Amino acid sequence: MSAPLVLGIETSCDETGVGIVRGYDLLVDAVASSVDEHARFGGIIPEIAARAHLEAMVPTIERALATARVTLDEVDAIAVTAGPGLVGPLTIGAAAAKALAVGLGKPLYGVNHVIGHAVVDELVDGPFPERVMALVVSGGHSSLLMIDDTVNVTELGSTLDDAAGEAFDKVGRLLGLPYPGGPHIDRLAREGDPTAIRFPRGLTAPKDQAKHATDFSFSGLKTAVARWVESRQDAGEAIPLQDVAASFAAAVADVLTAKTIAACRREGVSTLVVGGGFSANSQLRDMAAARCADAGIELRIPPIRYCTDNGAMIAALGAAVVRRGAPPSPLDLPVDSTMPL
Ligand code: KG4
Ligand code: ZN
Repeated sequence: MSAPLVLGIETSCDETGVGIVRGYDLLVDAVASSVDEHARFGGIIPEIAARAHLEAMVPTIERALATARVTLDEVDAIAVTAGPGLVGPLTIGAAAAKALAVGLGKPLYGVNHVIGHAVVDELVDGPFPERVMALVVSGGHSSLLMIDDTVNVTELGSTLDDAAGEAFDKVGRLLGLPYPGGPHIDRLAREGDPTAIRFPRGLTAPKDQAKHATDFSFSGLKTAVARWVESRQDAGEAIPLQDVAASFAAAVADVLTAKTIAACRREGVSTLVVGGGFSANSQLRDMAAARCADAGIELRIPPIRYCTDNGAMIAALGAAVVRRGAPPSPLDLPVDSTMPL
């Protein structure tokens, strides 16, 4: 018997994603984004995102089915992001998923978006070993997860303030870069000297390590960059954008990789998965690759299109949940904007 066909729906932020998987095989990953509609506001406007999901939902489902050459009758289960995310957008995806589940008489599985960012890697690099460490970094989250048997997740730590991508976007704004600033800082940083300015590494002092060994903090770093830039401007000096970007990016990548690899060592885990939109960041990728190689840790980072929000990650997690025989969610499944792991 072939593995069940799972259709996954993702609408937690500004991407309408519909993915279809059969077991570990990805058949299609259809995404429609409203990112361009938000750019002029310098951030995501939930109401605009919700309306865009409403318009894109049915066409994206139809496109996914047509591309995968499957009919709705062939779908065995529906998975949907139940949280965390923006409540309006989440509600649109959940309504679509419930309608499909009721109409088709197929089970519904509400799943956690953050876990999906890690589990999507199974579609690329194959089934997870029994235990993996996952670092999920995006504009909304920076979480360190211990994952047993793909679906049993313990959050070891997270950011106490800004997410990594959020910090990049805020520093991008103060450097006068377009929104979202993350990719622009990445580009500038590649031309700069990462040792030019020694910016602080949040929560790495011995007293913080004792209490927050697996937590992150980026707001102090962002303030340090702002102060440094202001002091040069006050002195009438030009800002060396490339060096500021490189030094800032190095500080973020240093803290993320050092804490994550230390956690792998403590937990005796030899596989690290990195996911979320911020894992596109070259400084993080390079440092993680070098440090994992030194530490003898297998590093798994899916291609960038599976790191940003998409439906394949939700279908992948839905398939993992089905594989483990978990009971379906109730058809009145609530969405939860702050859904815990
Ligand atoms: O996962 P994602 O697409 O959306 C959220 O769930 O947040 O992540 C987008 C975030 C934004 O903050 C964006 O600036 C950041 O990831 N980002 C980057 C890079 N590409 C995207 N930050 C730094 N370097 C990049 N190359
Ligand atoms: Zn995300």
